[in-house]
Amino acid sequence: MLMKIIGSAAGGGFPQWNCNFTFSRAVRFGKAGFPPRTQSSLAVSADGLRWVLFNASPDIRQQIAATCALQPAADAPPRSSPVCAVVLTNADVDHVAGLLSLRERQPFALYATAEILGILAENPIFNVLVPAIVPRRELIPDEPVEIMDGEERDTGVRIEPFIVAGKGPLYLEDASSEAPAHDEGETIGIRILSPEDRKSFFYIPACAAITDELTKRLDGAAGVLFDGTFYTDDEMILAGVGEKTAARMGHSALSGAGGTLARLEDVAIARRILVHINNTNPILDGNSAERRAVEAAGWEVAEDGMEVAF
Ligand code: MLT
Ligand code: MN
Repeated sequence: MLMKIIGSAAGGGFPQWNCNFTFSRAVRFGKAGFPPRTQSSLAVSADGLRWVLFNASPDIRQQIAATCALQPAADAPPRSSPVCAVVLTNADVDHVAGLLSLRERQPFALYATAEILGILAENPIFNVLVPAIVPRRELIPDEPVEIMDGEERDTGVRIEPFIVAGKGPLYLEDASSEAPAHDEGETIGIRILSPEDRKSFFYIPACAAITDELTKRLDGAAGVLFDGTFYTDDEMILAGVGEKTAARMGHSALSGAGGTLARLEDVAIARRILVHINNTNPILDGNSAERRAVEAAGWEVAEDGMEVAF
């Protein structure tokens, strides 16, 4: 299986358009060790020809322009795309806004849970993806599924979706509520299976809490692409860019006793890669103590264009 991390940043990207925090400034001025990053998305292929996108970011046009494998082949018809399906892990803006750029009557299949499909169905702008051309297919948690293209042909990509702790999309939050609103099924992780199910690589770009159930699921994995949004729980508050904690944003922080590094330390995972990295996270600075700490704990920090095969 081939995987390309086409977007390694969290919502907003790196630099974020209005962010004047040190790290975004460093990218803007081309400082060494600060590559730019586009918003969260992963492309997966079994044959290197047909690709399944996991999440469709607002930067999708730029991501396709940067990735030859996602562009129409030279001998293909006048309208064509190697992108044959999109799987959504939640309905956050950074994961669904790119769907609007995939209009133009191009057939592909759209997979998500009933809850995520429901959020899209309530917003008529997504009708630009005409359901007769872009069929919606429901993912059932814990049921393995072969991803088929818009015309029911097998893509060779087999996944198992499962529920993880998360939060509902910010744009659906009730301003009066303190706790993050979240219905089960609004945030999922994905097990990507190798042919004959010999190996699993997990894609979990948002995870609010690492439960014992999740650590058991990850045990023995060939790898994980995991939520690397925040290093500390109060990171956005300390950076002066927001009032919410990581937990309130639906992301388990990397550091701390109950943080991701500690919770996954003793779980047998061959390769660990952080994705969905927020523009405040000190691991973005290649020379920071925090970057050294995650690397010492066996984690890689994804960059756009990074390829992983398993
Ligand atoms: C998140 O992952 O917390 C969201 O992408 C935030 C957002 O919607 O901007
Ligand atoms: Mn996000």
